[in-house]
Amino acid sequence: MASPIVAASTLATDPPSNPAALLEAETGALSVGPLPSAGAGTIRLSLIIPTYNESKNIGAMVQQLTTVLDKAFGAAYEIIVVDDDSPDRTWEAAQALTTRFPTLKVMRRQHERGLSSAVVRGWQAARGELLGVIDGDLQHPPDIVPALWSEIERGADVAIASRHVEGGGVSEWSLIRRIISRSAQVLGLLILPNTVGRVSDPMTGFFMLRRVVIQDVLLRPLGYKILIEILGRGKVRWIAEVPYVFRERVDGESKLTSQVYVDYIRHLLRLRIARLPIERFLRFGIVGLSGVVVDMGLLFVLSDPSMLGWGLTRSKLLGSEVAIVNNFLWNDIWTFGDIAKRQIGWRQRLRRFGKFQAICLAGLALNATLLNFQFNVLGMNRYVANGVAIAVVTGWNFWLNLKLSWRVAQPDAERTD
Ligand code: GDD
Ligand code: MN
Repeated sequence: MASPIVAASTLATDPPSNPAALLEAETGALSVGPLPSAGAGTIRLSLIIPTYNESKNIGAMVQQLTTVLDKAFGAAYEIIVVDDDSPDRTWEAAQALTTRFPTLKVMRRQHERGLSSAVVRGWQAARGELLGVIDGDLQHPPDIVPALWSEIERGADVAIASRHVEGGGVSEWSLIRRIISRSAQVLGLLILPNTVGRVSDPMTGFFMLRRVVIQDVLLRPLGYKILIEILGRGKVRWIAEVPYVFRERVDGESKLTSQVYVDYIRHLLRLRIARLPIERFLRFGIVGLSGVVVDMGLLFVLSDPSMLGWGLTRSKLLGSEVAIVNNFLWNDIWTFGDIAKRQIGWRQRLRRFGKFQAICLAGLALNATLLNFQFNVLGMNRYVANGVAIAVVTGWNFWLNLKLSWRVAQPDAERTD
């Protein structure tokens, strides 16, 4: 028999929502913590639906999604609608659904706006070890979700729904829309080749990932492309792709404005900078300066008449070689120490040294050639020309050594783009 309290709430004329299904948005850093112990094991997947003015779609969306997910996974999932206080009261419509759909939760955000941050705020409240996102306007087909999930079960870290693999596509896009979408992709490839180039559809807003991929990683997404943020900052090894056809919108309107394109470019540049190995480069520079000291010191000791008084060329060659060895050792211990640790043994170290030596010698030749070209052909001031040549060769030495001498054994874990 039902208790009086339950009876009263069931009998209430207009039960607005299930209070336990209402979530608070976190504030502060956009970073997803470890799996909360409460509810652990019961919920595997937390799927976010970001919404803004989707009141006409949310009912059908939740209905379709729960039908698919109940059948495939029983009650082992939760759906979290994150609505940005939509003027059309999508949050209210979603809250009203919570009595009928026990796997549904609703977060009404009143102090923050934007698609990407909405998704992260949803993940922060999530209790699943798998996290996902799907649009709330029925343009992303809910029946793909089980396929994404099974890719993760097979071992993928991230599973994306893609329009650009066999079987996927866009329904009735105009040529101009296709061109815009592809241009955005090409721009991404130019700025962040090793991040954007890892998937066929980096623009997709429909995907799933393991929590550990982004756990405790500080995210700084901008605009729409949350997937690029995850590929750029997360620990992603295996990516799976599942085809889907992007449907036409039936109700409501797209929120895509020109601002979204501006945000996209800013986001790419922000990630580009974040992915530059700045700290390593600084260390490399400091080691380079120590090499100058060694070079100068030996030139003095070997060639100065008050010291050993050797010939200039002999002294310079020996001094430079010792400086190269000095630089190699410091770089191997300090600048690239973390990488060297994964390639142990003397043979490996000698190989690294051989490459370092070759790159430095080639750099020296480049240095002299550039100095000559700028001074003799372009007529530049010799010291300015030398400064430019040194800067270029420092970059050359750093980049080639990073890519060749201390090449990372696990490219995904330490890509630099
Ligand atoms: N909470 C919140 N806040 N949700 C938002 C916001 C916002 O500021 N802006 C948009 N949304 C919600 C929409 O209500 C919808 O559910 C979803 O995010 C996608 O927004 P649309 O405006 O419909 O985007 P679209 O259809 O042009 O593009 C979508 O699909 C593409 C293909 O997968 C986005 O997901 C794109 O990122 C994606 O490339
Ligand atoms: Mn849409």
